[in-house]
Amino acid sequence: MAATFRLLILLLIVVVPPFVRAARDADAVVSRIAFGSCANQSAPQPIWDAVVAFDPQVFVWLGDNVYGDNKRPFRVFGKERTVGPWKNVPRFYPSTEQELRRRYQLAKAKPGYASLRERAQVIGTWDDHDYGLNDAGKEFSGKVFTQRLLLDFLDEAEDSKRRKQAGVYTSHMFGPEGKRVKVILLDTRYHRDPLLSDGTILGDPQWQWLERELHGPQSEITVIGSSIQRNGVIFVSGDVHFGEIARFDCGVQYPLYDVTSSGLTQSVDNSVPIVFQPIMRLLAVLAPTTMRVLNPNCLYKSCTTGQPNFGAIEIDWNALPPRIKLELRDVEGRSVHSVEFPISELQPSGALAMKKQEHAFQRHCTLETELPWLTQYWLALLFFGTIAVFIIAVVLLAITCLSSILTCSKKTKKE
Ligand SMILES: *[C@@H]1O[C@H](CO)[C@@H](O)[C@H](O)[C@H]1NC(C)=O
Repeated sequence: MAATFRLLILLLIVVVPPFVRAARDADAVVSRIAFGSCANQSAPQPIWDAVVAFDPQVFVWLGDNVYGDNKRPFRVFGKERTVGPWKNVPRFYPSTEQELRRRYQLAKAKPGYASLRERAQVIGTWDDHDYGLNDAGKEFSGKVFTQRLLLDFLDEAEDSKRRKQAGVYTSHMFGPEGKRVKVILLDTRYHRDPLLSDGTILGDPQWQWLERELHGPQSEITVIGSSIQRNGVIFVSGDVHFGEIARFDCGVQYPLYDVTSSGLTQSVDNSVPIVFQPIMRLLAVLAPTTMRVLNPNCLYKSCTTGQPNFGAIEIDWNALPPRIKLELRDVEGRSVHSVEFPISELQPSGALAMKKQEHAFQRHCTLETELPWLTQYWLALLFFGTIAVFIIAVVLLAITCLSSILTCSKKTKKE
């Protein structure tokens, strides 16, 4: 669930210190950035009104910007079996170029999104479903045309370098000197080695590019946190159909935040009947977590949201020192969860060393994979345990019924 620091890193937002090079995109001060992921082009998308109301100067797509692939029905038996070891067709299959283009047109025609495009600069990257196929990586054969279609959707210039490279990674620099925001967008699909292999997610050319972008030293490490030799880095990610804010204190010399916003339409609460939604909330409270930022101001006790949401970053450049607020907002534009701190906290400092004593710090320093086995899996155990008890109860009941019916019929025969 909260594998956000391991795999789902789609983008970095870097608050750039004053000394870096000239602005590329615009010289206007950027103080509000919104971001989101997982938007079903065939469903209503009421959340755009809330995004527009936040009035961002930049909106960042984090992937699954459309659902470009197709899902076969869940079938264990029959001619087309999509589940189980005996399945004979894959559950997901890609669309034709024409069909994918049509889906992007649907997405672009959403009135709320259209009005956002008039007000804000829209940039973005992709994830699997807009790349073309669920969980696909570099082996996916449609990637050349799906890259073209994403870049068309994002209004990338015809002569842009991004149209000639393999993959959609890119970076943007916003703002005048002293108030620069750099957005680095990664492509975690185009070059990704097969799942469960020991390979790479970004691929060599993108890694080299990223290192140049971060001015970091050359390295072959595949965990992005450890390659960041740079101050002011914040991660934002999508993909998982819920929202949360996580913090990891032991990656670099300052806290690393990851704001996960997912999805704009697709969300875990919407995927279950309304009566089960309180259960989903309870599970979210009970699920073990080491990195989630918890605070009493969260709209929900778990400090996660299973409702449609978007991410919002606000920078108060006029504060001394400038402050940043990371937030998740819902369809109504209500704040679901937020954290706020001076951007000077995103630099190595003595304060971090002092915090090492605190309980909260220890939590934010432990990887979920380092938790005891029972803590990691107790929810799964509870779930399967409940199912097992239920099945045993049904079987026992059936046996009891059957035997009493038998006894009864024997009795009637005797009489
Ligand atoms: C998108 O929405 C449509 C219409 O509500 C629905 O039929 C379809 O299954 C949805 N797609 C996904 C990926 O949820």
